[in-house]
Amino acid sequence: MIKKMIAANWKMNLLKSDAKLLANSLIENFGSDYSAVDVVLAPPFTLLDAVGNLIKGSNIKLCAQNMYPEESGAFTGEISPLMLKDLNCTWVIIGHSERRQIIGETDELVSKKVKLALKCDLKIILCVGETLEQREKGVQNQIIENQVEIALKDVNNDMLKNIVIAYEPVWAIGTGKNATPNEIVEVHTMIKELLSMKFRENDDNIRVLYGGSVKPENIDEIISSNNVDGALVGGASLKADSFSKIVKAAGE
Ligand code: PGA
Repeated sequence: MIKKMIAANWKMNLLKSDAKLLANSLIENFGSDYSAVDVVLAPPFTLLDAVGNLIKGSNIKLCAQNMYPEESGAFTGEISPLMLKDLNCTWVIIGHSERRQIIGETDELVSKKVKLALKCDLKIILCVGETLEQREKGVQNQIIENQVEIALKDVNNDMLKNIVIAYEPVWAIGTGKNATPNEIVEVHTMIKELLSMKFRENDDNIRVLYGGSVKPENIDEIISSNNVDGALVGGASLKADSFSKIVKAAGE
């Protein structure tokens, strides 16, 4: 069975002092002897160095929330994948819906990021998901299939092991409204079938996380659903207590 993964997306939250307290609590809980679940932290860029130094040598891995698809150059305000590697990031989140919706990232840009991240030896949490309007029209599978196809157009079988897909319905992010287990299973199964056909890979080797209002109260139901290999957690990852409960539940 594939190992479950719980990733914390801190988004644009926390200053250094609180971030260090949070990271230290998580190191106490999961830093050394804990290996039931892969624990990943995605702080904002400003905290990558501080959090990276704290978790260095522990079981917890560092993840960036975004990157620019160039190695260096005149791209004011952007961060390159080589800079993330330099800060000991193992992972990067690509295509989060807040970047697609608020910043206007296209599938093409997401695809370029995927290609360069892999070249620079970063593992990827690739986010996909439909809006409320798309779900109401019943076109979620088409939308997600399209997002996955374009994002992975330059990916080969060998690279797939460095990619985790996170299904995050836009209407469930930060709203307190999570998708039902049936809705989650349907999309996760579709994604696994798509990838196993495209890459001739065994389903068991493809990790699909769920994201969208995951909290201690609903993690048991979500994590025990078929084809759910973990979670990407936003709001509930900002407190050591709630995030630790989620990780522990996923490891049971
Ligand atoms: P949420 O965010 O848990 O606050 O809904 C999840 C995410 O956007 O990754």
